[in-house]
Amino acid sequence: MNAHFTTDLSPTSNSTISAPVTLIDHPLVQHKLSLMRSKDASTSTFRTLLNELSMLMAYEVTRDMTMQTVEIETPLETMQAKVIDGKKLVFVSILRAGNGILEGMLSVVPSARVGHVGLYRDAATLEAVEYYFKMPQDMQERDIIVVDPMLATGNSAIAAIDRLKKLNPKSIKFVCLLTCPEGISALQAAHPDVPIFTAAIDRQLNDHGYILPGLGDAGDRIFGTR
Ligand code: URA
Repeated sequence: MNAHFTTDLSPTSNSTISAPVTLIDHPLVQHKLSLMRSKDASTSTFRTLLNELSMLMAYEVTRDMTMQTVEIETPLETMQAKVIDGKKLVFVSILRAGNGILEGMLSVVPSARVGHVGLYRDAATLEAVEYYFKMPQDMQERDIIVVDPMLATGNSAIAAIDRLKKLNPKSIKFVCLLTCPEGISALQAAHPDVPIFTAAIDRQLNDHGYILPGLGDAGDRIFGTR
C-alpha cells in the first residue's frame, strides 16, 4: 500500500488542500532506489535501475486511467472487455534527466505520446529558463504525466507545468524519483491541483539546490557526464 499525503509538508504551510503526494513505497521500488543512491553505482547500473524503477512507477501513476468496455471475440465466445479510453497519454520529459525515465515508462505504455520541455537552471538564481518546448497535437484532449527524476527547488517542474497548462490538457500529474519538503511545498503552492508521485521524500535541499541525502546530479549519473 502506498502512502498518500494530502497536505503541504512545509512547516509554514497554510491550510490549502493540495492534490495528494503519493509515496511509492513498494519494496522493489525502495530497494532499487537505495542501490541507485550509492556513489559506487556505475552509469550502466544506475541507468538499468532507473529503467526498472520507471516501469514500476508507471504502473502506479496510471492506476486511475479511464477505461471503456468494448466487445471482443475470444476463441470461445464474445465478451465485454475493458480497454483504456480516450486519446493517448502524453509523457512529458523535462530535459535532460527526464529522458532517463521515458524508456521504462514507454515500455509499459508503448502507445503513449512524448513531449519535451527543455529548461536549464540558472546557476546564480536556480530559476528555470526555457530553451525547448515540443508537444504532440490535441493536447486539450490528453492526460499528461510530467517526468523528472528530482523535484528539488521545484522551479523546473513549476515552469514546465505553467507552460503545459496553457495548452489546457485534461489532467497533469508529476512523477519523480526523489523529492524533499521544499520541492513539494513549492510545487503544491504553484500547482495545488497537480498530484505528485515519488519514490522518496528526502530530508532537505542544500544551498546549491541539491537534495540531501539524495543521489547527486541525476543527469550526470544517467548520462555519465561526470
Ligand atoms: N537535480 C539533481 O540532479 N539532483 C539534485 O539533488 C537536485 C536537482
